[in-house]
Amino acid sequence: MNSTLPSKRKLMTCALGVVAAAAATLVSGTALAQAGGTIKIGLILPMTGASASTGREVSAAVNLYLAQNGSTVAGKKVEVILKDDAGVADTTRRLAQELVVNDKVTVLAGFGLTPLAVAVAPIATQSKTPQVVMAAATSSIVDASPYIVRTSFTLPQVTLGMAEWAAKNKIKKVVTLVTDYGPGIDAERTFKERTLLNGGQVLAELRVPLRNPDFAPFLQRVADAKPDAVFVFVPSGFGAGFMKQFAERGLDKSGIKLIATGDVTDDEQLNDIGDVAMGMITSHHYSVAHPSATNKKFVEAFTKANPGLRPNFMAVGGYDGMRVIMKGLEATKGAGGEALLNAMKGQVFESPRGPVLIDAQSRDIVQDVYIRKVERVPAMGNQLYNVEFDVQKAVKDPAKVK
Ligand code: PHB
Repeated sequence: MNSTLPSKRKLMTCALGVVAAAAATLVSGTALAQAGGTIKIGLILPMTGASASTGREVSAAVNLYLAQNGSTVAGKKVEVILKDDAGVADTTRRLAQELVVNDKVTVLAGFGLTPLAVAVAPIATQSKTPQVVMAAATSSIVDASPYIVRTSFTLPQVTLGMAEWAAKNKIKKVVTLVTDYGPGIDAERTFKERTLLNGGQVLAELRVPLRNPDFAPFLQRVADAKPDAVFVFVPSGFGAGFMKQFAERGLDKSGIKLIATGDVTDDEQLNDIGDVAMGMITSHHYSVAHPSATNKKFVEAFTKANPGLRPNFMAVGGYDGMRVIMKGLEATKGAGGEALLNAMKGQVFESPRGPVLIDAQSRDIVQDVYIRKVERVPAMGNQLYNVEFDVQKAVKDPAKVK
């Protein structure tokens, strides 16, 4: 009997062996989980509502960056959790809170409109979660939290060039017409200050509501004031609506020149806007027609992955934002918080828009601003493009120039 049954000692040794093996598995399992695991990025965008085009563009670009560059960092899988805030700040705040507390995201990203970015800033500060603003563009956003890094642009940054061009081109009397919130007020102030400095005159400053704008009464006031030019800012997604009313009121034939930031001649809407935009001068940091090898590669890959959709400046903000996050995570080996924030500051790279820098002090983007003219380009399918003809190099947000 003894010879057929294992001795107690043998059993003990065997049992210990099993425990040791199990423990080994546990240890290596934990090690694997640590080396593996996931890094979560909460991407909050308006996927529905009046700014849905921004959500569509930014999310497509984020996906493209990951498809091209891989979604693994330091042995960990990067997972993007996309949430739709429909452009409502209370929703953005709630979603950010849930993403930080429940999903334990390492980064909050996206933010299609200024109020949505600002609503999340206290959550970023309290939880020490880097907040990457890929779309919103009021100058002061970066002051709302030390954890904010911006990869989009600012309205003062892109407006200065337009004001300079106007002054050099004998535009003396202007009316400004902007959407009545942060970025519009930034654009209005910058354009006015530079115009006055250059000896011009601002006849009227018109502000149109953000929600359901009716431009007609404001366009009537433009017509009545008879300026040399009207300078316009409306946010991405609203340009086609503005241009339709501009043409309907006959302002395109009034002799009043229409100048704007590139938000109005948004690449996503430009072909729909049509011939009324022909010859329009705008200033901005990105055109889908930007003639660089990096941009050609980006546009080709973006349109292949999203048939029928042109990348616009929002897409580039998302693409570069994802680049800044992934390179930051590579540097920290997947760690978040302050380490990641520091690793995002100071990044210098070639974007589809041109050379850019994330200024380490302001956490804001420094970039070239182009003066462009809307033209039909036979070599590019005879479609409408913002064709760049002049450039201001390495423009800092004017508010951050000491
Ligand atoms: C903003 O709300 O900050 C914003 C949105 C769209 C733009 C520019 C600025 O095109």
